[in-house]
This record gives sequence, C-alpha cells and structure tokens, in this order.
Amino acid sequence: MHSPIVVVGSFNQDLTWTCPEFPAPGETIVGRFQTGPGGKGANQAVAAARAGGATAFVGALGADGFGREAETFLRSEGIALHLARKKLPTGNAAILVNRRGENQIIIALGANAALAPRDVPAALVRHARVVVCQHETNLALNAHVFRTARRAGVTTVLNPAPMRADFDDQILDLTDVLVPNETEFVALVNRRGFTEKKLSTLADHDLHELCRSFDVPTIILTLGARGCFVSQSRGHLSIPAHPGLKVVDTTGAGDAFVGGFAAGLVRFDGNIAAAARYGNAAAGLSVTKFGTAPSMPARRDIDRLLKRAGRPASA
Ligand code: RIB
Repeated sequence: MHSPIVVVGSFNQDLTWTCPEFPAPGETIVGRFQTGPGGKGANQAVAAARAGGATAFVGALGADGFGREAETFLRSEGIALHLARKKLPTGNAAILVNRRGENQIIIALGANAALAPRDVPAALVRHARVVVCQHETNLALNAHVFRTARRAGVTTVLNPAPMRADFDDQILDLTDVLVPNETEFVALVNRRGFTEKKLSTLADHDLHELCRSFDVPTIILTLGARGCFVSQSRGHLSIPAHPGLKVVDTTGAGDAFVGGFAAGLVRFDGNIAAAARYGNAAAGLSVTKFGTAPSMPARRDIDRLLKRAGRPASA
C-alpha cells in the first residue's frame, strides 16, 4: 500500500530533563526526567499522520529495547512502517528544557546514520505526493531519495535540521520546499559568503531577496514565536504565530510544522499558503504540551485553532 506522505528520517529515544535554568559549564543541578519517542523524522511522521495525512515512515532502529518500543509506538499511530534493523544502538537525544520551554539538545545518531538507499522502497517514494527528509540520517541518502522523487514528479521537502558541516548544497537543486529555522537559514546563507547573524532585523522584502538567492522554488522559514515566512518567486507571505497559547515545551515545534505542512499540502492539493498556515497551527499547538512526538496535535484541534483565528482550514 502506498501513502501520499513519505517521511524518510530518524527515530531517537528522547531523554529529557526539565530544569528551571540550563546548568552553567561545570555546574550540577537537580531536574526532573522523562523519556519518550522522538527524532525529527519520526516526529514529522507522527505530526503528519495526526494532522490527517496517510503517512509512511522509513527509518532505522537498533535491535534494542528503545527500538522495540519505537516500533510499537509508531504502529499505534497508524503510520505505515518501513524499518531497517541495524547492529547499532537506536538513536537517542539528551534534551534539556528550561522553565521558559526553551531547549538544548545533543543527539547520538546510532542506527539512523546507517539508513541506506536499499532500506528505502523506491516504489513507495515514486507513488507519494510529498517526500520529506531531514539531517539526522545521512545526507547522501537524502540526495538518493530526492533524485527518485524528482524523477517521479513527487514534491520534495527538506528540513535541514540540524545543519551539518558535511551539508552539500547540491541537494537544493532537488528540493521543492526548503524549511529551515532561523539558525539553519543563517548557516545556509553564510555558506554563500554573506554574514547575516539575525533575521529579525531584516525587513520582509530583504528576507525575501535573501531567500530568492537560493534556487529553491519555495523557502519557508520557521521563526518560533514570530510564526513563519514563506518565499516563492511570485512573492512572499508572513504568517504570524497564534497568540494566547501557553508555551510548555518548544522541543519538536519545527517538526510539528513540517509534518503539518506535509499533511496540508496533500489536503489542500498543493496550496503552499494553506499548507503553511496548517503547519503553523500544528506547531503552535505542539508547544502547549510536553514532549516531542506525543505532543503533536490532531487534525480536529488544528482545524479548531484555525477557525478560532478566523482562518478556517481550506484551500
Ligand atoms: O526536533 C526535536 C527532536 O530533535 C527531538 O525529538 C530529538 O530527538 C532531536 O532529534
């Protein structure tokens, strides 16, 4: 069975400590611990599925307890699974969340790094509407997946998270929609010899110009509490964050956006603005709950938030 949304990416077991403030170098503090399913790929697959898109996830797990729990969780979300088992530990993430809901993360890629082209069913990619990749597996694999997708006319969405030293710009030639956050976009821009440090100081017109210096049809910058910015050759659009939502944990908000956006692209028949509004609402709701994959909102809640904002979900 084929799914319109295919996410190729990571699973990480998230090991999360909450603390009032992040510890300083050399400092030990007391916090509270919780663990749960995460990883940018899996989070995005869960976000897309909960947002109403039939979704397949291609990933790699270790033959360990975290891997077994991951499979049970992802199956319970109704996601079509294509999981490779590797002789490596399941990926994991050490996450600190402070009282403002901000986070710091270290990941160990483990099995994710060994995901290989032979683990990705070509027919699954060819029959999708949207294929989504991130930077937590290996970058050569992303290029392979996007080449397969491109040949079949499937929309490619790249979330360049986390930005990596081995990033090769050539994948941008295969990317239809690039979804970086502010840090990732600044890193991309500076690779090209610019010296931008903060996007918040730029006027929309200048931000759009900067986006247009990349040969990617659509760039969507996720800007946290400022919402998102959509740049296409025909123009640009700022979508503000939804006000009045209580921030508990921002971890995974970018993943909620990407998954919601992918589901929106399918639901609204390729309408980028409608899909970005949908992703923006999904991200807003995800930060009101603790955790990553478990914090992804359901379609009815996204629809309700958009309706409340006077922007009912529609193409
Ligand atoms: O984007 C949030 C995710 O980043 C977490 O789930 C963690 O696993 C890291 O991959």
